[in-house]
Amino acid sequence: MKDKNAAAEVLLSPLTEEEMIGRLTGMAVVLDEWYRKEGRRLPWREESSPYHVWLSEIMLQQTRVEAVLPYYRRFLEAVPDIPSLANADDMQLAKLWEGLGYYSRVRNLKKGACQVMQEFGGELPASIAALRSICGIGDYTAGAIGSIAFGIREPAVDGNLLRVTSRLLAAEGDITRPQVKKAFHDVLYTAMSDFPSALHPGNFNQAMMDLGSGVCTPGQPACDRCPVRDFCLAGARDQAELFPVKSAKKARRVEQKTVLVVIEEDRLFLRKRAETGLLAGLWEFPSLDGDADERQVRQALELVGIPVRRLIPLAHSKHLFTHIEWQMTGFLAVCGAGGHLPGGWQPVTLAQLEESYPVPSALRVYRKAAVEWLEGKAARLWDG
Ligand code: ADE
Repeated sequence: MKDKNAAAEVLLSPLTEEEMIGRLTGMAVVLDEWYRKEGRRLPWREESSPYHVWLSEIMLQQTRVEAVLPYYRRFLEAVPDIPSLANADDMQLAKLWEGLGYYSRVRNLKKGACQVMQEFGGELPASIAALRSICGIGDYTAGAIGSIAFGIREPAVDGNLLRVTSRLLAAEGDITRPQVKKAFHDVLYTAMSDFPSALHPGNFNQAMMDLGSGVCTPGQPACDRCPVRDFCLAGARDQAELFPVKSAKKARRVEQKTVLVVIEEDRLFLRKRAETGLLAGLWEFPSLDGDADERQVRQALELVGIPVRRLIPLAHSKHLFTHIEWQMTGFLAVCGAGGHLPGGWQPVTLAQLEESYPVPSALRVYRKAAVEWLEGKAARLWDG
């Protein structure tokens, strides 16, 4: 009996395991009807080959559907299948991903495609364990691809599933703890094994995602229009917004930098970031650590052989990564032609910047200043 309720103990739900599974199964039938009528029509749901599902799931990690849509279409036009992904040029892939963030996703996607070519004959495998062995595919993504593309009964446990399920079961376990997350997986897995065969596992997972993003939202859940409110224990207690329970995140480490948009005639200078770590392999403006003033910037540029003709302060900006916060100031430095080219600096024209060089959106304020200057708008904006 103790074992039978082990999940309930970890999840801290007042329900027994049997009650949880009964509740989830009843809910799934009603949710399925709702999904057929109200589910979002999304391109990867309409023309879904396993490759489409894989690409969409990788793009959708940490990223909203609306932001993904244009990227998804553009990426598929350029890279229509797994063989073309395995053979694609790294810089082209990074450019197709520019602005979407979390760039390791696209590097792993390519590695995964090479692995699929070598180990699985060019086709994604129809097994959770085999999917899980592919680079960039973790538990969530294996569950999503397995269930959506192959109809495997496996939950895709992301933030939406955790939030919806914790509310349905009034489960107070801290979802940041791996044991609790595993217990949610296990109870959903057991429930899915019991679902009527007419319920497609991929539809269940995607219905939970739609419910989580449109109705059972983090801030103020819309319980009054929830299709499965009759099954929700937290809702019945008028306590939906108290779930899920999660411990506070660690504060981000703050890094200050001074971004230098150095312009020489019709070109600016970029540097390639290291091949590992944050924003690996992307291109950025040269920068100085800390919050440098005009004098320090002039001095630093002159030290690397760049005489500055004009120095224009640019706006402050900040960018949040998962664990780091960049606080930036910037300067646009116009320098004379024919100066020294510091090691690693790459002169780039506006056309090259737009077509070939992937620059992270963390630097968008400075990229915009560079583009405006090179387009000649700056004269009006700044001199005017
Ligand atoms: N978020 C992650 N996967 C998704 C999917 N298949 N549909 C909608 N939102 C998602």
